[in-house]
Amino acid sequence: MTTQDRFTLIRPDLDRLEAKLRDVSDVTYPPLATVITQLVSAGGKRLRPAVALLVNQMYPADAERALSLAAAVEMLHTASLVHDDFIDEAALRRGHPTVNAVWSPIATVRAGDYMFGRAASYVAETENPEVVRLFADTLQVIVAGELRQLFNRAETLPTRDDYYARIYGKTAALFALAAQAAAALGDAPAESVGRLRDYGYHFGMAFQVMDDILDFTADEKTLGKPVGGDLREGIVTLPVLIYAEQTPDAPALRRLWEYRADGVNRLAAADEVVAAVRDSAAIEAARAEARAMAARAEAALAALPAAPARDILADLAATAVSRQD
Ligand code: IPE
Ligand code: IPE
Ligand code: MG
Ligand code: MG
Repeated sequence: MTTQDRFTLIRPDLDRLEAKLRDVSDVTYPPLATVITQLVSAGGKRLRPAVALLVNQMYPADAERALSLAAAVEMLHTASLVHDDFIDEAALRRGHPTVNAVWSPIATVRAGDYMFGRAASYVAETENPEVVRLFADTLQVIVAGELRQLFNRAETLPTRDDYYARIYGKTAALFALAAQAAAALGDAPAESVGRLRDYGYHFGMAFQVMDDILDFTADEKTLGKPVGGDLREGIVTLPVLIYAEQTPDAPALRRLWEYRADGVNRLAAADEVVAAVRDSAAIEAARAEARAMAARAEAALAALPAAPARDILADLAATAVSRQD
C-alpha cells in the first residue's frame, strides 16, 4: 500500500487540513505569514494529523472540531521543528532553508513561539476543555524534554531509560496526544481512549527510533534535512547505545570520551563513531527494536472495534519502521 492509498479514507479531511494550515489571512504581520506559508507548503508527511483524523473516523466528532484538532497537532509539531532546528543549528528542513538559516536567533525563537500560539488557537476551536488540557500538558512535556536534552549533552553515555524518556518527550508525547485527544473529542469510551493513547505512544517511540537510525543510514537529499549530526551535537541515540553495549572497548568510543572537552578532536571522534556504528550490527538491532515498538502500537489497537481506519492506523505504525524518509 502506498501512502496515497493509506490516506484515501481521510483524503477529503487532509485536503481541508492543507487549506486550513495555509490560510494565514488572520496573520497581520506579513513576514510571519510568509514563514508559516513556506513551512506548511514545503510538505511534511502529516503523520500526526493523519493519526488524529483516522481516530476521528473510528469515533467521529463534529467535523470542524476534528479538523481544528488535526491543525493544532500539526502546527504544534511545526513550531517545535522551528525551535529544534535552531537548537541543532540545522540549515535544511523539508528540503528548504530553515528559519534559523535566514532569521536571527531571537526572531527564530519568536516565530516558533508565534506558531505555538497559533496551535493553541486551533485547539481552542475544539471547545473541549479535556482536549485543551491534553494539549497544554503535552506542550509542557515537549519543552521540558527539550531543555533536558539541551543540558544533558553527552558527558557520559546515557542509559536506555534516559534515552526512552528523551524520545517520549520529543516525539512520542505528541503522537500520543494526536490519538488520545481525537478519541476524547469523539467521546470514545475511557478504555478505548487509553488504548489509543498507548497506540500513539508506541508509534511515536518507534518513529523516533527510526528517525535516529536514519540519521546514520539515510542521505540528506532523500530526507530533506541534514544527517549524521546527532552525535556531533552530543546527542547519543539508540544505535550508539547498542554499539557501546556490543563493543564497550571500541577505540572510537574511547576517543569520543577522551576528547569530550576538546571541540575539534571531539567532532572528529564523533564522526569516527558514526562511521563505526553505520558499519556495525547495532543498526539492525536498533531496527529490530523499532519494529518491536511498532508491534506494541499495533497490539494496542487489537481490542478496538474492527474498522477500516483501525487497519490503516496499524499499517501506518508498521510502515513507519521501514521508511526511508
Ligand atoms: C521530524 O518529524 C521530527 C521527528 C520527530 C523525528 P517528521 O519526520 O514527521 O517531519 P515532517 O513533518 O514529515 O517534516
Ligand atoms: C525530533 O528530534 C525533533 C522534534 C520532535 C522537534 P530530531 O532532532 O531528531 O528531529 P530531526 O531529525 O531534526 O527532524
Ligand atoms: Mg533536529
Ligand atoms: Mg533526527
